[in-house]
Amino acid sequence: MSKEFNIGVIPGDGTGPEVIAEGVKVLTAASKKYGFSMNLTYFDIGGERYKKTGETLPDSVLSELRQFDALYLGAIGHPDVKPGILEKEILLRTRFELDQYINLRPVKLYEGVETPLKDKGPKDIDFVVVRENTEGLYTGSGGTLKKGTKDEVAIQESINTRKGVERCLRFAFQYARKRNREKKLTLCGKTNVLTFAFNLWERAFYEIAPEYPDVKTDYAHVDATCMWMVKNPEWFDVIVTDNMFGDIITDLGAMIQGGMGVACGGNINPEGVSMYEPIGGSAPKYTGKNVINPIAAILAGGMMLEFLDQNEAAAAIENSVQTAIRKDLKSMEAGKMGMGTKEVGDLIARYVAE
Ligand code: IPM
Ligand code: MN
Repeated sequence: MSKEFNIGVIPGDGTGPEVIAEGVKVLTAASKKYGFSMNLTYFDIGGERYKKTGETLPDSVLSELRQFDALYLGAIGHPDVKPGILEKEILLRTRFELDQYINLRPVKLYEGVETPLKDKGPKDIDFVVVRENTEGLYTGSGGTLKKGTKDEVAIQESINTRKGVERCLRFAFQYARKRNREKKLTLCGKTNVLTFAFNLWERAFYEIAPEYPDVKTDYAHVDATCMWMVKNPEWFDVIVTDNMFGDIITDLGAMIQGGMGVACGGNINPEGVSMYEPIGGSAPKYTGKNVINPIAAILAGGMMLEFLDQNEAAAAIENSVQTAIRKDLKSMEAGKMGMGTKEVGDLIARYVAE
């Protein structure tokens, strides 16, 4: 019997719907070729709904989202909505409520993509960041006192639990093993200054490491990690880090892999419902122009299939993206691809079907 997947689709704001449409095109081609089927249910959450109804992520929608095999997200962020509201109430709330404790972000330079790093190529830039996704500075713990006065106090706490840290580290060890490259896991922290938080990370890291004797351990401070990502990106295989550092280094990662047009990620709960997304945001200025690069969204769809155990289909999507980049696309930048958003989607869907 062929597999059937229920997918919740949140196209979201700005160019989100355009890139998701192309991703769905490619996923549909993959489903036909590789013999599985998908039931797609669309949700209109995002800036427009918030403007109309004041709702961000109603509890009823959240309960529905819990029922899917996976979620596929375009982008959240609207120019008319004050920054922070949609991000917190939709994106971060989904990550927290569905306990998507891993944010998995590959940093991979495809052949034919330009990198700003001199003398570095696809062989050098190919690693994965495992970002903790439910703790750290993102929990909203803290507060202000005497706001608006000269005596104002602002506290933003980084929450690190043994359970949260350990499950993230274990995922990273297992991922390094599954990836089967150098099998090297680098803990990225700041043990010299953040002596409470990263002491916990470091102890947990070296305590569980003997359970993964085939994986080499390595440590780098976050500032040095940024330096090596530019100078010697080939040193990395899998990097594991906390929520805030992971956020920052994956934007740097996106730049060295050719820009936001190619960077995808998965918000993963290995025991629950995961959500896959291009990480570039809603890019509102390009909305409706058929110029945005859909490749990050297409790759996010491929990652979704990988975690739904459709490995052949996932590989076919990645290979098709690689072929299109090498043979057909002029650039990864919006408006400079040499073809439109829809045409890129058509092309990659065709390569998948072939
Ligand atoms: C990301 C984004 C989000 C984050 C924002 C929009 C809340 O930058 O997915 O990396 O900081 O996690
Ligand atoms: Mn970010």
